[in-house]
Amino acid sequence: KHFGTNQNDFTGKKVLITAGPTQEAIDPVRFIGNHSSGKMGIALAENLAKRGASITLILGPSQSKVNHPNIRTIPVTSAQEMFGESLSHHEVNDICIFAAAVADYAPMEPASEKIKKSDERMTITLKKNVDIAASLGERKASNQTHVGFALETQQEEENALAKLRKKNLDMIVLNSMRDRGSGFKHDTNKITIYLRTGEKVVSVLLPKTDIAKLIVDTLKKQLLKKI
Ligand code: CTP
Ligand code: CA
Repeated sequence: KHFGTNQNDFTGKKVLITAGPTQEAIDPVRFIGNHSSGKMGIALAENLAKRGASITLILGPSQSKVNHPNIRTIPVTSAQEMFGESLSHHEVNDICIFAAAVADYAPMEPASEKIKKSDERMTITLKKNVDIAASLGERKASNQTHVGFALETQQEEENALAKLRKKNLDMIVLNSMRDRGSGFKHDTNKITIYLRTGEKVVSVLLPKTDIAKLIVDTLKKQLLKKI
């Protein structure tokens, strides 16, 4: 299907993608996590790989399989680990896509032994994790393009645009929570893409593979403008 249409339009481009959830250790056998499947980030990696790009996929714990010669997968567990790998690979990439559902907080002092059950109540103190997109945004060179995601339940547009600016992104993809069948765990998604230049692109409910194509096609237009 569509053989040859976008073939090789990303040849020579290096792309870093974060995807999947992160897991933050409470003790050696427990963690704080989230329901991200990693599917959106993987769909983006596969679309770009098919179009000739070389992908470094920094992937949190995910059941989804990735198999393309142009995709190098670096498995990670925690936000801190994802940050370390993202930072060490950042500089050589033309495009960075932050599709991971990074835990905002992690247990301050993970226990080294399994925590025994005791009182009726127990408290785990959390500390804020590093913001990978914002931190790499500060290091972004003029020839690099950064793409982020946002999931909002209120004031969607305002919050998405605030994240675009705060993280120094060129594009932000807002996942609509309003529609059944979009977001976590689903194979379909409905999105709005906000560009730094003020334009926006709105999709209907589509399979994640088609959403990936729409994001990559929009990204391509942005890149052409940059040159
Ligand atoms: N992100 C990141 N590192 C974090 C948190 C988020 O790289 N520690 C990235 C996500 O991959 C996404 C974007 O930032 O591309 C927005 O993530 P989101 O969770 O929507 O925003 P937050 O800044 O964490 O704000 P909040 O959760 O409070 O809405
Ligand atoms: Ca968050």
